[in-house]
Amino acid sequence: MITDAEIALDIRSAQIPILPGRPTTMWTYGGTFPGPTIRRPAGERTRATFRHLLPPTAGELTVHLHGGHTASADDGQPGGLTAAQPRSLYCDISPRLSDRESGNDLLIAPGAARTYTYELFEDGAPERAAFQWYHDHRLDRTGHNVWRGLAGMWIIDDELDAGLPLPRGERDIPLMITDRAFDRHNQLTEPFGPAAHAPDDGVTGRSVLVNGAHLPHHRVAGCRHRLRVLNASNFRSYNLELSNGRSMVQIATESGLMPAPVKRRRVLLGPGERAELIVDFRASAGERVELRSVRRRGGPDKLGSRSYVGPLIEFRVGRRRADATRVPRTLRPLPAWAAGASPTPERHWRISIGRGLRPAWLINGRTFDAARADAFPALGTTETWELRNDTEVAHLMHLHHTDWYLISRNGRRPAPWEACLKETFLLDPGERVVVAGRFADHLGKFVVHCHMIDHEDHGLMSQFEVVEPG
Ligand code: C2O
Ligand code: CU
Repeated sequence: MITDAEIALDIRSAQIPILPGRPTTMWTYGGTFPGPTIRRPAGERTRATFRHLLPPTAGELTVHLHGGHTASADDGQPGGLTAAQPRSLYCDISPRLSDRESGNDLLIAPGAARTYTYELFEDGAPERAAFQWYHDHRLDRTGHNVWRGLAGMWIIDDELDAGLPLPRGERDIPLMITDRAFDRHNQLTEPFGPAAHAPDDGVTGRSVLVNGAHLPHHRVAGCRHRLRVLNASNFRSYNLELSNGRSMVQIATESGLMPAPVKRRRVLLGPGERAELIVDFRASAGERVELRSVRRRGGPDKLGSRSYVGPLIEFRVGRRRADATRVPRTLRPLPAWAAGASPTPERHWRISIGRGLRPAWLINGRTFDAARADAFPALGTTETWELRNDTEVAHLMHLHHTDWYLISRNGRRPAPWEACLKETFLLDPGERVVVAGRFADHLGKFVVHCHMIDHEDHGLMSQFEVVEPG
């Protein structure tokens, strides 16, 4: 784990032991997969320098801190066309853009380095504590680059969270779930050919890894633990459940602590989503408890709506231990702007699919163009937006810049576990959500996209630009 204010990570190829036998050649942050977990106090400026040591054929890279409230130039912009990526198969990019117009000046060229500054401050206060992650975000290639290994976890702590009687230290466990496919030599497959286009472009792998390990086990004491679970898979969703039939208590989403804890038997996580769960192992002393993924009940049986079925990680529970932790009845109140947000959306983001032999995903009828923004919210305002899925495939819409308050789903009040701040939203076919966000601190462009990363690479991305009021 890295806790320094100045972070230096080499992006390089490394041999990672995953399956029995030969190690897997991966692209890594700092030589490990996942990349090192970074843990920082809210409100303290953090500078992360990434040096691109992958071969030139990897092209330019860009690093996004997912969940961070970051200046546009440090947000890991996807960039545009370059000599290494002279055309886009899916996106209609305006011709003859300057490096600045396309955001290419923000990319990391092979052999070069870039320093990203993260203030960890939002709207006049330290950012809220949250479980975030960092990953590549390059135009057309994010799915491929993340599949190769460019992802790591990032935790922000703050005083409110630290002041609660929750499990900490070795009882606070971040878990990154990814699925991957391997060939006979334990090497990653390359399922990204031009044949994989919308709507059949979701990449899955047979092997599900937790923190880069296949079906790992972990020893825990017989007491409460805080599991921070991230779904970093390209396409797959997981419907989490404990094998001992006990419920878990969800305390946080992608955006940190919820207003109040919610007891849950199962927790569905689509790509990009996180949940923090308090699991009480006191009644399971001496037993083995599996965290597994089960079929989703009551959801549509459509592409992307089905969850993985199988074990993820086994906890080997030791002796029952005295436990002074507990889950308070209230956690973190919603910010004032959320309560005041209008329930009526003033902007709409509609997902559809193009026509032709190699259709792209579309937002409001268009693919991604780094030079174009589709909405211009003013700095310091709160806006209400609708996200709607007009396709037959589920999508996971993610918005950069800030956290979003989910006001309604399909015209109804959201379930208790999503009536709070989040930044990634499951949209089953035909669904719509209404969310409000506040545009503080940073002017400039920020992307909105599906976090089924192959969809993002195949056009399902747009952006808004925060502008000066007036
Ligand atoms: Cu996790 Cu725009 O990304
Ligand atoms: Cu999608």
